[in-house]
Amino acid sequence: MANKSAVITVDGKQVEMNVRSGSIGPEVIDIGSLYKNTGTFTYDPGFTSTASCESKITYIDGDEGVLLHRGYPIEQLAEHGDFLEVCYLLLYGELPTAAQKKDFDHRVTMHTMVHEQMSRFFTGFRRDAHPMAVMCGTVGALSAFYHDSTDITDPHQRMVASLRMIAKMPTIAAMAYKYHIGQPFVYPKNDLDYASNFLRMCFAVPCEEYVVNPVLARAMDRIFILHADHEQNASTSTVRLAGSSGANPFACIAAGIACLWGPAHGGANEAALNMLAEIGSVDRIPEYVAKAKDKNDPFRLMGFGHRVYKNYDPRAKIMQKTTHEVLGELGHRDDPLLEVAMELERIALTDEYFIEKKLYPNIDFYSGITLKALGFPTTMFTVLFALARTVGWIAQWNEMIEDPQQRIGRPRQLYTGEPQRDYVPTSKR
Ligand code: CMC
Repeated sequence: MANKSAVITVDGKQVEMNVRSGSIGPEVIDIGSLYKNTGTFTYDPGFTSTASCESKITYIDGDEGVLLHRGYPIEQLAEHGDFLEVCYLLLYGELPTAAQKKDFDHRVTMHTMVHEQMSRFFTGFRRDAHPMAVMCGTVGALSAFYHDSTDITDPHQRMVASLRMIAKMPTIAAMAYKYHIGQPFVYPKNDLDYASNFLRMCFAVPCEEYVVNPVLARAMDRIFILHADHEQNASTSTVRLAGSSGANPFACIAAGIACLWGPAHGGANEAALNMLAEIGSVDRIPEYVAKAKDKNDPFRLMGFGHRVYKNYDPRAKIMQKTTHEVLGELGHRDDPLLEVAMELERIALTDEYFIEKKLYPNIDFYSGITLKALGFPTTMFTVLFALARTVGWIAQWNEMIEDPQQRIGRPRQLYTGEPQRDYVPTSKR
């Protein structure tokens, strides 16, 4: 088959550009030579029509509501896999054999502790600091502790840094939580699985035995799986952009954490839960739906809408099931927040405004309720997202470093400021 091309005409001059096909999904027009040939840039703020890289890790079909990691549907991974298996898949490209899985679990487990001096970093923060502020600082600080895994040209060091990051994030996240509530840090326990260990580090206290509830641990693990990667979202693109300059992996992940914090991204589940609490009861829903539809009101229904999914977010369906399992296990089936959430979902899914704009509930709509039931304060929600997304960030970062096409990311702009003018001394202004 002949190579496809696209032609663009600028000031009467025609330029032909290659059209590249992926394995699935939309084709892309390779505009790399556009500036050289026409002296013009493309303009696409928010990257709505721009592929920033080539990737083999995650595929999303937003119209159909499909999410694949290395080709495997998220529904199958969440149903049959565990989080570390998904980590292996994202990092290495294939599901592990039983022996590979055992070895991988062991290698991750060997890195769960953090340098003891790290604990001093925590005490430098105010007690009322948002745990995401603590995460930005402490994860960035890892590069000051693990010098033997910051040479990004060495594949072995890159893998050690990757495993360290996956292993230490639960420990750091739990420390951020314990510091926040004024309890002593709980060290990791390596005979527990990843999610159980995390729950224990968050909720155990030295003076009592802590028994992990397997239903809750499974729910926690599933939440991690559902957040593991999501192709070139804002925080992943931030990690890639930071990494494109050659920055070390710990610094790049800290950059990703900073980006994730915003309410339009990882902060949405915290915002969604706050919104449900503000609505408070089913009879107030119409008032909030009307606010969301009012063009003159900036209010948005948090947990609804997605840049890519113009259909039900497949993760939201699994999350909804997990929410019911957790609330059932804890005897919270009649939680008023859940009642408000269900009714809000029903109304939004049948309302013309939401149907027309294809605004479906996203994963954050349900994850907030589940995390609250598990015992986490809202301020920890984005921290848990960061913990789970770390593997996606690090897999995408590794892929970028290994990409022979990789260059420093350097977008251009449409300048609309003052043209050149001469400096005027203060006395003459
Ligand atoms: N409630 C009411 N109206 C909405 C909402 C909403 N949640 N989301 C979008 N709209 C409207 C928006 O006003 C606009 O209307 P119009 O065309 O009349 O101006 C239209 O839908 C398109 O919105 P947009 O802002 O251009 O869409 P976007 O792709 O830039 O934004 C979004 C996507 C997720 C930022 C946005 O839907 C939103 O703010 N949602 C609430 C926050 C949220 O739940 N974020 C979690 C995203 S999923 C997790 C993650 O990726 O981190």
